[in-house]
Amino acid sequence: MTLFDQLSSSYQELLRDPIRDRFTGPEPEFFHRRKRDLIRRFFRRRRLSTAGLRYLDVGCGKGELLGLLQTDFAHVAGCDVSSAMIDEICGIETRVQDDPLRIPFGQAEFDLVTAVCVYHHVLPAARRTLTREAGRVLRPGGIFCMIEHNPFNPVTCLIVSRTSMDADAILLPPSEARRLALQSGLAPLEQEYFLYLPQALYRYLGFMETLLKKIPLGGQYAVFSTKCS
Ligand SMILES: C[S@@+](CC[C@H](N)C(=O)[O-])C[C@H]1O[C@@H](n2cnc3c(N)ncnc32)[C@H](O)[C@@H]1O
Repeated sequence: MTLFDQLSSSYQELLRDPIRDRFTGPEPEFFHRRKRDLIRRFFRRRRLSTAGLRYLDVGCGKGELLGLLQTDFAHVAGCDVSSAMIDEICGIETRVQDDPLRIPFGQAEFDLVTAVCVYHHVLPAARRTLTREAGRVLRPGGIFCMIEHNPFNPVTCLIVSRTSMDADAILLPPSEARRLALQSGLAPLEQEYFLYLPQALYRYLGFMETLLKKIPLGGQYAVFSTKCS
């Protein structure tokens, strides 16, 4: 049984934190929508349509991001080491990872692979193997997107330090995310910091986050890389 199998039934409750709750306001799905929009914008910038593409979310948890992106892609799928976490996902293909370092899909099956807030739960020594796996299931030219907590943001670090499900967390900086990509045959393309503004301000001042995306203080960051042909 994995840590997240044990925590799954009280997952939403365990995520609660006074600062986090104020950040999202009445919309706890704010964080997932921000990631959906970040991924959409990435493909738009590259003038790539996602309509015919296949998307896999590794460590998909409860499947919120998959649900939000389901209609953007031809096919979406998720996998996770915790069967309890993915148990209630409906209408989306999911597979349990019996081996945490083996993604249960075939070679070159996907055009986009994401891993959102997964790597800080993976031991540093095992991260390269997981990244190689992400590369294996990507087709040449496919995109790997890693999204992680930003260890340079003191508020993020404070929330992580007092969240019980993050007891095993070892945060990684974007430089490590880029290095992992490079070591796994993936060429880094773009990096951006996001989650500067709480939901209440983001509604009106969201454009400011675009201006700030290179400043290493956002609550989280995304590193996009591509599988070399
Ligand atoms: C903090 S949750 C994030 C879930 C989801 N990605 C999200 O953003 O809501 C971390 C998830 O990663 C999963 N996980 C941890 N290690 C993993 C690994 N080696 N491979 C796949 N999933 C893993 C956990 O079971 C858990 O569901």
